[in-house]
Amino acid sequence: MISSTPAVVPAGRMSRSGQPVFRLAGDVELRPWRQDDAQTLVDASLDPDIQQWSRPGRDVSLQDARARIARWHERWTSEQAAIWAIARPGERPLGLIGWGDIDLRGGSAEILYWLLPAGRGGGVMTDAVVRLSRWAMDDLGLHRLRLTHSVANPASCRVATRTGFALEGTMRRALLHADGWHDEHLHARVRGDEWPGE
Ligand SMILES: CC(C)(COP(=O)(O)OP(=O)(O)OC[C@H]1O[C@@H](n2cnc3c(N)ncnc32)[C@H](O)[C@@H]1OP(=O)(O)O)[C@@H](O)C(=O)NCCC(=O)NCCS
Repeated sequence: MISSTPAVVPAGRMSRSGQPVFRLAGDVELRPWRQDDAQTLVDASLDPDIQQWSRPGRDVSLQDARARIARWHERWTSEQAAIWAIARPGERPLGLIGWGDIDLRGGSAEILYWLLPAGRGGGVMTDAVVRLSRWAMDDLGLHRLRLTHSVANPASCRVATRTGFALEGTMRRALLHADGWHDEHLHARVRGDEWPGE
């Protein structure tokens, strides 16, 4: 019976600890979003690539952005999501990365990310995805991590393959973008998969 299956990760493992900060190469860190980062979310919502692929919503106001940041903190505490800013210390964020749809009992989550144009092209996202995947597997204890993207987004597909998220299949007409329904690649890594460079 499902009810007798123990949780993969016991409840409380996130909520009982603060959200960690991670240092990456190139003086970049992953840190929790702060209220004074709100303008970056407004800027991101106006970027055509982020609008197309990450669907942040249109006409995001500063007030909306502040509410969104507050919600991310609540979702850490309620163990539903874990969202970080990608930023150099003391600077405005270059992008966002994190886990949505966290299911501690079932041991899975889905990664989300975007970079503003100034942050693209330097391999930052590859480093960030590997670092957060290690945290999700090794520290949090999840078993399966998903990464999905439109088949028309080759940059995101490269991030997935470079970070060891195996392509498992194509989900037909899975997500509604501004220009209509898109087929989506489903990539995943499961516990025991090799890490890039090993
Ligand atoms: C997806 C994203 C995070 C990738 O970050 P990035 O810094 O641009 O990634 P890179 O420049 O390292 O590019 C990744 C790879 O994709 C390739 N690539 C980039 N754009 C491409 C394109 N239009 N066609 C084919 N390949 C492309 C790059 O050449 C690179 O290949 P390499 O690994 O062989 O060097 C970033 O482009 C982004 O935020 N885009 C807008 C929002 C978005 O797509 N979010 C993801 C939703 S699933």
